Amino acid sequence: MEQGKYIVIEGHDGTGKSTQVSLVRKKLAAEGIDSIEFHEPGGSEFADEVRKVILNGDLPRDPLANLLLFTASRHDLWFSKALPALRAGKWVIASRNYISTLAYQGYGQGLDRELIINTTRVFTDDRYMQPDLELLLELDDPDERARRINKRGALVVPDTFEKEDADFQERVRDGYLQVALSKNIPIVSASGTEEEVGEGVWQQISEKLL
Ligand code: TYD
Repeated sequence: MEQGKYIVIEGHDGTGKSTQVSLVRKKLAAEGIDSIEFHEPGGSEFADEVRKVILNGDLPRDPLANLLLFTASRHDLWFSKALPALRAGKWVIASRNYISTLAYQGYGQGLDRELIINTTRVFTDDRYMQPDLELLLELDDPDERARRINKRGALVVPDTFEKEDADFQERVRDGYLQVALSKNIPIVSASGTEEEVGEGVWQQISEKLL
């Protein structure tokens, strides 16, 4: 059986990744393509437990510990869920991958980016490192981003990264742009309506994968 495709939708908090993942899956279904979605961090029994630790803003730890937590969660999700789905012919639509670690822990928290890439490579594989398509959703207005985050309502536990200050958020945003440029990742504007953004996303998918 032909393997599925692995698509990653990346972007800062509040850029609408989850909405776009759902839209992509609907459009794929209309083309007769079966898909599954994942949202890092989390997605397997183990990764969901690690996610609770990651998102607990009351738990102090350094950026290196964060890298290990995200990598542990990613390793389990990839080998226990995502790869088997791809092998069974399903398309995997993921919001976030290790590019988030480059943006938040690398550019945001100052962790060495080579270390992030090397660690991720050791605990995943080539297919994880090179998805069939990666996209970056980009919102250039920080106020609009904050408004969208607030609209989602109160978080169960204080989120570690969403509550970081404006300088941190600016470093993360800039980091995303740098990674996109260096890896030639298409940047899709996230400033329109869900449907407008969806068209930008779908255009990339239909051009490159269908
Ligand atoms: P989550 O509630 O899943 O946010 P979203 O719906 O925007 O993906 O929280 C994940 C948080 O963890 C988010 O603030 C981004 C951050 N994060 C990292 O710092 N590094 C990573 O490698 C990943 C995957 C997420």
